[in-house]
Amino acid sequence: MKAVVYDKSNKPDVLVHREVEKPLPIADQVLIKIMAVSVNAADYRSLRYGIIPKTNIYGADVAGTIEAVGPEVKHFKIGDEVFGDILKWGSGGFAEYVAVSEEALAFKPASVSFESTATVSMAGITALQGLRDLGRIQPGQKVLIIGAGGGVGNFAVQLAKYYGAHVTGICGPQNVEIVKSLGADRVIDYTENNFTEEKFKYDLILAVHGSYRLTQFRRALTPNGIMVMAGGALLQLFRQMAFGGLFSMGGQKMQLLKAEPNRKDLVFLIKLVEEGKLKTVIDRTYPLAETAEAMKYANHGHTLGKVVIRVNE
Ligand SMILES: NC(=O)c1ccc[n+]([C@@H]2O[C@H](COP(=O)([O-])OP(=O)(O)OC[C@H]3O[C@@H](n4cnc5c(N)ncnc54)[C@H](OP(=O)(O)O)[C@@H]3O)[C@@H](O)[C@H]2O)c1
Repeated sequence: MKAVVYDKSNKPDVLVHREVEKPLPIADQVLIKIMAVSVNAADYRSLRYGIIPKTNIYGADVAGTIEAVGPEVKHFKIGDEVFGDILKWGSGGFAEYVAVSEEALAFKPASVSFESTATVSMAGITALQGLRDLGRIQPGQKVLIIGAGGGVGNFAVQLAKYYGAHVTGICGPQNVEIVKSLGADRVIDYTENNFTEEKFKYDLILAVHGSYRLTQFRRALTPNGIMVMAGGALLQLFRQMAFGGLFSMGGQKMQLLKAEPNRKDLVFLIKLVEEGKLKTVIDRTYPLAETAEAMKYANHGHTLGKVVIRVNE
């Protein structure tokens, strides 16, 4: 099969499109013929920091068709269309096939395309668990999404609206219109305004991008407000890890999110997509052979929604 393999000897292009052995599913694994896979920060950041998957193949957010099943598989059969985030199971999605535990997967509805489906798992679950689980979102709350233009942010804006919140999104000037169209009640262009200097207070802040101090989050929160940090600059993440506990004083809480992929949340999200309640936004698509270009593009940090690789076209 064809795959995009990490090969450190092949400088400067360490991601090489080449022939490798097709995997065989063992135990509870299914063999997926991959149709589409999206790029995540987990892929390009791992590459940047030298974290290499065991198979030397990146790519976590897969969607495809089951071609073979291992002897212990219970949930799926050959021909089923599936999707999921396989990072925890070793990645391997930038390839024509991957063998992965059935635990990682859920059914893909026939009416949703493989490309759309491949955008949902990692970014959708991050947004969902940030707002619903750590953020304990409630109808009528004032919610701020920092990084509303990206993969996680696009889903977060829509999910916060789904839960009945009043939503403010922060993004760059080129993404203002799309963030509004996803349902945001207010949009702040970070090149023009700084939310930390406004009087507006939020019950919940989901910080996906940016670099703010914890004192700035504190001032922007209501007395019982919650800040959930999903991502952002290293300095922002460091401040949260070192001092987040200290700043969770009084009613306010500052929490760091570690999203956990699970089938229940995949099913919940894809049902919203199927019902037209959650839109997927794709900035660019690339063929598998151009995955290295796709990774570079996503890594520039200003994609709108998701970047998707088309496989087995
Ligand atoms: N905690 C977890 O479990 C977990 C799970 C998954 C992902 N993450 C993290 O979540 C983060 C976001 O992932 P993603 O998939 O959304 O990334 P992405 O799609 O690559 O995000 C790109 C977006 O970031 C926006 N952006 C860049 N700088 C910004 C700033 N200063 N203020 C506001 N927006 C800014 C850009 O919008 P503009 O063009 O509008 O600037 C762009 O649309 C990453 O750091 C990732 O590591 C965490």
